[in-house]
Amino acid sequence: MAKHAVSRRNFMGGMAAAVGYLSTRPTAELWAQGGPAAVAAQRARGPMSAEMYDRMVKISSNENNWGPPESVMKSMNAAWKYANRYGYPDGGIVQAIADHHGVKPENILLGAGSGEILDVVGTTYLMGGKKAIGCDPSYGSVYQHATAIKADSIRVPLRADYSLDTSKMIELANQRASEIGFYYLCNPNNPTGIVVPKDEVKAIVEGLPKDMPILIDEAYHHFVNTDRYETAVPYVLEGRPVIVARTFSKIAALAAMRLGYAVAPAPIIRQMRPFSMGSINVLVKHGGVASLKDTAAQAEVKRKVIDLRTKTTAALNAYGYDTIPSETNFFMVHLGRDVQPVIQAFREKEISVGRPFPPMTQHLRVSIGTAEDMDRFVAAYKQIFPAKSQTNFAAR
Ligand SMILES: Cc1ncc(COP(=O)(O)O)c(C=O)c1O
Repeated sequence: MAKHAVSRRNFMGGMAAAVGYLSTRPTAELWAQGGPAAVAAQRARGPMSAEMYDRMVKISSNENNWGPPESVMKSMNAAWKYANRYGYPDGGIVQAIADHHGVKPENILLGAGSGEILDVVGTTYLMGGKKAIGCDPSYGSVYQHATAIKADSIRVPLRADYSLDTSKMIELANQRASEIGFYYLCNPNNPTGIVVPKDEVKAIVEGLPKDMPILIDEAYHHFVNTDRYETAVPYVLEGRPVIVARTFSKIAALAAMRLGYAVAPAPIIRQMRPFSMGSINVLVKHGGVASLKDTAAQAEVKRKVIDLRTKTTAALNAYGYDTIPSETNFFMVHLGRDVQPVIQAFREKEISVGRPFPPMTQHLRVSIGTAEDMDRFVAAYKQIFPAKSQTNFAAR
């Protein structure tokens, strides 16, 4: 245990020294954190048939393995009759989202997934070579998009306990304000699952230059179970330059249907709107409204995720492997060895687990699937890894 604690410190210290607080990564490494890398790795492994895909235990992309509830399926199915139309009744999705947050429709921008919202923020505020400032590792898509549009990013390593170094980020954002297009905060953070406490979010909102846009990615908001955390939507109501990104991909199980949105002050929404595609399909507009109404179904998903995450991490801890305490539908386990061959070993057992998240290359990110998925994962883990003497990360 002591040995591991030291190596963890060395790892973070080495990372800070190697990267410095001001990091600009080459494109290849940026891609290695996100979707395109996963696609490239998939290509290298060869095509996967639909049958193979269906058989796989899919715990790599933080999806909702239970699928949409009956209420959502019913309302999407009823919307098929509009499939041949351009102008059609859309179920009132924008108003429904605005009502859900106590804001006005002018404060909402829909996206084909919150991924589109993140890109739209990048395109709106980074053009001309500005930089996004955020932590590392985090949801890499923001930094990849910055690279893709010939902008850049400033990335601040996580602290030794994997929390976000928000004070360092505030300091840098002030020092280099003229270079920065927006501030990115993923809360809870992906891939670690750790929340940024509400007092730190307040310090960010109050400590940044007055007009600096702050993108707060709350993709995993619905799974959080601690009152140390709070949504940042009230800052939008205060008129702060805060953009909250939300998605129907996770709690609402609509990842392939593509629906997300931004909540922001109206002038910010007006700046961003020209860069959005507006290509949201009719089925998901109706499904999204039904999902917002079905609070019981969402509560049930949250309950199952927390229960299965607790059981799975307890099993790994008892087997001797540390896990990072998570507030999301995924967690990270410290393997003590390189993750890439481990991903392959799981793949051979028809279990798809998370990609590498450099520089945390000895951690595996595991999404929470159904009880059966998690049983298969734990059984495979025990075949791949030997038991170790018990450690307890949470107690340290
Ligand atoms: C932190 C975070 N933000 C945004 C997204 C994008 O999700 P989507 O485009 O499906 O809404 C993801 C997807 O995994 C994510 O993890």
